[in-house]
Amino acid sequence: MNGSNRWSEFPCRWRCVTLPGACAISFPTVRGRSFWTVRTASDETMTLSNEEIEKLRRIGAVVAKTLEEMERHLEPGITTLELDEIGREVLLDHGAQSAPELVYDFPGATCISVNERAAHGIPGDLVVEAGDLVNIDVSAELDGFFADSGASFGVAPIDDEKQKLLDTTKEALEKAMSMARHGRPIKMIGRLVEGLARDRGYTVIRNLGGHGIGRELHKKPSFIPHFFDRREKRKFREGQVLTLEPFLAMGARRVEEMDDGWTLRTENRGLVAQFEHTMIITRQEPIVLTRRSNEDIEQ
Ligand code: CO
Ligand code: CO
Repeated sequence: MNGSNRWSEFPCRWRCVTLPGACAISFPTVRGRSFWTVRTASDETMTLSNEEIEKLRRIGAVVAKTLEEMERHLEPGITTLELDEIGREVLLDHGAQSAPELVYDFPGATCISVNERAAHGIPGDLVVEAGDLVNIDVSAELDGFFADSGASFGVAPIDDEKQKLLDTTKEALEKAMSMARHGRPIKMIGRLVEGLARDRGYTVIRNLGGHGIGRELHKKPSFIPHFFDRREKRKFREGQVLTLEPFLAMGARRVEEMDDGWTLRTENRGLVAQFEHTMIITRQEPIVLTRRSNEDIEQ
């Protein structure tokens, strides 16, 4: 089965990878003490109890802490497997389970993707070198709830071109998050991210997107595009738990699966960066569940 056919036929096991425009959405009714009640077009309601919010906050903090610890150890000479083991230990210390292992049987606790590899990189013998762009993506489960966060880091010293790609991608996520709120069209995210990328000379990876999360790692709303898709008709709803995770690249618009059956790399082998947070949609700015204490959030 070749890669291009596969993409066009079905979303693949990791459901944040899919074709755009195919998803209809329905809002489940969640039982529990009502914290937010959301009226949808179909008049269904969606609620998040205080207890659920607390559990989401807890796993969000564990994921943030894991990513932070891994970043602290990111330096030339370390292998991606050694980095992964550091992440695994933090997860275990907090009683959390790696979501890729739990849900997809992924061969690693976290995904570590270097340079032209965008996502789902398998931790292994690869030695990190100065000048590399290393994406670390951590998703985990605790007490029945999931959170998911990723970031690309430059291993110093890196040149200005790489730094600009990182800064722009981070800016794209921050701006997208500040725009995501109840009642707004989801397609605004793609318009904003793609516009910003284009202005700075980058492309947006179109076959990776944000996704709903919560009691599952990947749930509705499925595939939130970070490029402008006029067919995208959904709106953000208060109480939705989801990720935004733009991937900006140097010329590439798609990622393709490598021979290991997991790693996704850019079609043109060019560099790519991603930043991702898990958040709860509200009537104001979202509640970001995976913010790291050392994170630079200036835009
Ligand atoms: Co992720
Ligand atoms: Co994700």
